[in-house]
Amino acid sequence: ATMLTAPAFAAGYPERQITMVVPFSAGGPTDTVARLVAEKMSSDLGQQIVVENVGGAGGTLGAGQVAKAEADGYTVLLHHIGMATSATLYRNLAYDTLNAFEYVGLVTEVPMVVVARKDFEPADFNAFKDYVKANGDKLTLANAGIGAASHLCGMLLMQALETPLVTVPYKGTGPAMTDLLGGQTDIMCDQTTNTTQQIQGGTIKAYAVTTPERLPLFPDLPTAKESGLDSLEFAIWHGIYTPKGTPAEVNERLSKALQAALADGGVIKAMADLGTAPSPAEDATPAALKAKLEAEITRWKPVIDAAGTYAD
Ligand code: MLT
Repeated sequence: ATMLTAPAFAAGYPERQITMVVPFSAGGPTDTVARLVAEKMSSDLGQQIVVENVGGAGGTLGAGQVAKAEADGYTVLLHHIGMATSATLYRNLAYDTLNAFEYVGLVTEVPMVVVARKDFEPADFNAFKDYVKANGDKLTLANAGIGAASHLCGMLLMQALETPLVTVPYKGTGPAMTDLLGGQTDIMCDQTTNTTQQIQGGTIKAYAVTTPERLPLFPDLPTAKESGLDSLEFAIWHGIYTPKGTPAEVNERLSKALQAALADGGVIKAMADLGTAPSPAEDATPAALKAKLEAEITRWKPVIDAAGTYAD
């Protein structure tokens, strides 16, 4: 039988710069994670990884662009839990989530924080819950569009408080944060990678975290669970994908570079300072990301169906 060899380019891969699509605006949490790992992956690969921000439709425009890209290893997607929730939220997605991508690996699982403009009236999360229930129809909730992590958290918050809020969508929570800092909006649920510095600086108000335990970074911040909001317990896992058909050798090579980035002291410290940590090496693999995506689509489908919010 003839020896099946990987296409020539896979052997010398990578031979030129790689584009990493981030499906949200620059300056937001997804962009922050992407630039952190891209820099170190570039060193390991010996080729520049250029981050391209493609915002819109809660991350599905950027994901769709990568689904249609050449499967040659020179376009990758860094996306988060929204890859799973969008599979249910969007009933006419431009791509078939479980058949349009290959997998590289998990990157990090980032906690979320319920935050508000710095002069928001309630003193603590219990008062926050009562205040929102009493004033919901006049309060604005900022997010990064249907399919964003901030959308999912906001949806769960509205469901738990049985109070609809006025939703203000942005192309990422980078720009959304600018308006929250300016007091243009009232509430947001966003990742520690985008809220830590503002909370530490007192330019926004933090009420609760969505982790099972309190964060070492914010020991005084209660968990949502402590305040009776059990449904608000989840982390924003991030993964790297390539277009369907990208050779396995390429995905494996990218996974090795990702693992090297996640083992880098500078990346570990930067993530710790932002309230998160790298995924373990065994999770920064194609099989682990595939399993995570499939499990998360299954996990969130009934929750989204119960909320009844869809993108069309
Ligand atoms: C999200 O809510 O999904 C993120 O904030 C998106 C982003 O990184 O801006």
